[in-house]
Amino acid sequence: MTKPRLLQPEDAAAWRELRLHGLKHEPRAFGATLAEEQNLPLAWFAERLGSTPVFATADATGALTGTVGLRFLPFEQMRHKGFVWGMYVRPEARGAGLGLALLQAAIAHAATRVEELRLDVVDGNAAALALYRAAGFTAYGTEPRALKHGGGYLDEVLMALRLPGRC
Ligand SMILES: CC(C)(COP(=O)(O)OP(=O)(O)OC[C@H]1O[C@@H](n2cnc3c(N)ncnc32)[C@H](O)[C@@H]1OP(=O)(O)O)[C@@H](O)C(=O)NCCC(=O)NCCS
Repeated sequence: MTKPRLLQPEDAAAWRELRLHGLKHEPRAFGATLAEEQNLPLAWFAERLGSTPVFATADATGALTGTVGLRFLPFEQMRHKGFVWGMYVRPEARGAGLGLALLQAAIAHAATRVEELRLDVVDGNAAALALYRAAGFTAYGTEPRALKHGGGYLDEVLMALRLPGRC
């Protein structure tokens, strides 16, 4: 397994391919949709990599296998929190610890900047819920009808992780 690394704007093409793969094959797992992102220019993905931390793992050929992002808000009273987004591991790479390694890299990065991490996960996404619990996240609530998907609604479990040393 390769160690997760922080992507740079030069990784935009590889990350775009992985991100769109996730949006296409796991549409219920994300707030964003393939339709929203598939026609965006490469510069949009590069700008995102330049403005927010995104981690990825790669296989022996250098192809990206998994990714997770962090988001921080500029508002003074919300600067103690960070948000995990865009967690995705290619189906053929799952079950080998990549998701946990990505999350741990994101947590270590976040611990230098914020006191707490938050994330939302669709209720019933057993793999993701188990992954986040394994990394130490606990559920603090549920948002009913958080996503409108395919004419129906999906609830999301809201999870948090206190980061030691900054509270
Ligand atoms: C969720 C996801 C990222 C997990 O990635 P992964 O690389 O397979 O996860 P890991 O191998 O690191 O697993 C770490 C832990 O998570 C839990 N876990 C992962 N997959 C699981 C599954 N299918 N069922 C139950 N628990 C699971 C286990 O506790 C596992 O530890 P263990 O292997 O020691 O039992 C991956 O399944 C995925 O990309 N899913 C689709 C996209 C998605 O749902 N993203 C989350 C959006 S909120």
